[in-house]
Amino acid sequence: MTPKGKILVTRSLPGNALERLREKGYQVEVHEGLFLPREDLLKRVEGAIGLIPTVEDRIDAEVMDRAPELKVIACYSVGVDHVDLEAAKARGIRVTHTPGVLTEATADLTLALLLAVARRVVEGVDYARRGLWRAWHPELLLGMDLQGATLGIVGMGRIGQAVAQRAEAFGMKVVYTSRAPKPLPYPHLSLEELLATSDIVSLHTPLTPETHRLMNRERLFAMRPGSILINTARGGLVDTEALVEALKGHLFGAGLDVTDPEPLPPGHPLYTLPNAVITPHIGSAGRRTRERMAEIAVENLLFALEGREPPNPVV
Ligand code: DGY
Repeated sequence: MTPKGKILVTRSLPGNALERLREKGYQVEVHEGLFLPREDLLKRVEGAIGLIPTVEDRIDAEVMDRAPELKVIACYSVGVDHVDLEAAKARGIRVTHTPGVLTEATADLTLALLLAVARRVVEGVDYARRGLWRAWHPELLLGMDLQGATLGIVGMGRIGQAVAQRAEAFGMKVVYTSRAPKPLPYPHLSLEELLATSDIVSLHTPLTPETHRLMNRERLFAMRPGSILINTARGGLVDTEALVEALKGHLFGAGLDVTDPEPLPPGHPLYTLPNAVITPHIGSAGRRTRERMAEIAVENLLFALEGREPPNPVV
């Protein structure tokens, strides 16, 4: 079979989805490292007609111009803030993503972080491992009771709604803010009202120029004293420096699956705070979820290459 063209996949992906591309005669090039340095990305994209990038690859005009034959950028993510959509549009390059499939996995991790912070799970594990657990004590590692606590959800899309469902099972009261009220059984508040009334604030909004640093210093300190911030969306939604300050007295804690910068450099102040629980952007990291994401990215890519409307278009 004559090769149909090169597809660059910027990381190895779980499952067998890439086989489908090989069977169809595409020349699939997979970068095997943990990360792909910018210079390597610029070199390896040359000659590609299709690209499957991850959230860590900045796909801008410079990358696109290295691959004049590029027809489609099939993101292995729901978020597309790492792609210059205007540049893609101007070059007639299709951009697709993987919405829906990772909703439940991301909502699960949101609850995992929420529970870990509220009930000081990581501190407790650390305490036991260090051999400090010598007696039961009524005042040891007291945390926040979730029954009756108010959870404020910022951005009530698929993931926000899946988090709300889970929170209800824990007896939490849910409020939310989003651009417009939705037909949901929860009160819709302004962001300012939500910050003033929530015991836990959880972010589920995409990162755009409008939402960049949405949780700035003023808003972090407008959260209720002793409340919790959870972010499984994008690090850029939060002013990291201000968060470090807020965690030194104003907030009870924070659970972060995403950070700014990402990854945080070793020794970053956030790593030194016992009330910050940080995971390495693993919201969608259920095996089945990640395999499905690969299948969806491949499906989108094939549709676009075959000149059909892809199932999950962004551009
Ligand atoms: C996404 O899909 O946008 C997540 O951040 C990574 O799965």
